[in-house]
Amino acid sequence: GPIVHVLGARPNFVKAAPVIAALRAAGADQAVVHTGQHYDARMSEIFFDELGLPEPDVNLGVGSGGHAAQTAALMIGLEKEFTSRSPALVIVYGDVNSTIAAALVAAKLPIPVAHVEAGLRSFDLSMPEEVNRRLTDQLSALCLVTSPEAVGHLANEGIPVSRVHFVGNPMIDTLLANLDTFDTDAVRRDHDLPERYVLATMHRPANVDDPETASALVRHLHGVADLADLVIPVHPRGRANLLAAGLDGHDGVHVLEPLGYIDFIAAVRGAAAVVTDSGGLQEETTILGVPCLTVRPNTERPITITHGTNRLVTFEELVPGVRKVLESGGPATDRRPPLWDGAAGPRIAEVIMEFPGE
Ligand code: UD1
Repeated sequence: GPIVHVLGARPNFVKAAPVIAALRAAGADQAVVHTGQHYDARMSEIFFDELGLPEPDVNLGVGSGGHAAQTAALMIGLEKEFTSRSPALVIVYGDVNSTIAAALVAAKLPIPVAHVEAGLRSFDLSMPEEVNRRLTDQLSALCLVTSPEAVGHLANEGIPVSRVHFVGNPMIDTLLANLDTFDTDAVRRDHDLPERYVLATMHRPANVDDPETASALVRHLHGVADLADLVIPVHPRGRANLLAAGLDGHDGVHVLEPLGYIDFIAAVRGAAAVVTDSGGLQEETTILGVPCLTVRPNTERPITITHGTNRLVTFEELVPGVRKVLESGGPATDRRPPLWDGAAGPRIAEVIMEFPGE
């Protein structure tokens, strides 16, 4: 059977594009199953178009729901799909609910699983993503690692080294492959943005799900907007609470709809600083050399702090942190994590084409 890629949510699409391209170049038989976890055109379709992803062979249309309902629907749909397609291997990406659902279903059929972005750990089990990451790695025949410390995390959890391959970061492949297309001036024109701005994204449950927390966050974001214009494309998850807290009712705040990949990275590239709770953006700012303040108590991507432009901040540290970056610039911008070089996709394809090996 084919190699089946399971994609569900926005960050999956960015990571899968170079892997699918490299496997295509290697002549692999492959299929794409879109779970439909993300379904708005702005969260999904635009990424397929811009990144040259193949049209999914099927979209399971699972949509939103509580963790149990969503994961259950994902599993039921994926089991049917895997049973009828008999994949030789299932490839899953990152840490979203589609990732763990696919790994769990495949492992029991049983079909071998390859996990792209294995071994990242925040050690914070209150994050749904941390649960998804740990369990997915346990179920994976191939753990494809983006950052060296992940190798140690997997070893500590008893995963045999023979399953673990340090291949680099495919999200950075996508970034580097599209560098010529990011046009910050066009984004400024289209959205009426000033020359100097801070770009923010906020969607973590811990930051936006509780109305009081969201409201406190909005006060601090307004504080940032008092230092420089604040541009914030709003993820559907936090939209209602952030707007109810008056996010857009403050001078210098530019609330945007979710942007496509090309416009989004163009906006990031032109920003004086980024304020975020995203995982991938900590990595992208590291390579673009844009100072990043991550509004979280921990990160599963510590290499973006040691080798990049990232820093963790509390709500209270946010405004002083942004002020400091605006006044004196961020950390050194020429540091790069190892193997974030644009060639992770081909390395992943090589490991996969050799599987199961001798
Ligand atoms: C998911 C991932 C998260 C990732 C994020 C990237 C999990 C557990 N979380 O979070 O790790 O950082 O994607 O975007 O998988 N919604 C829409 N339109 C859509 C999709 C979602 O309106 O196309 C709204 C719905 O109200 C939904 C909510 O967003 O209930 C949350 O969507 P969901 O897929 O549960 O998780 P995300 O918060 O997007």
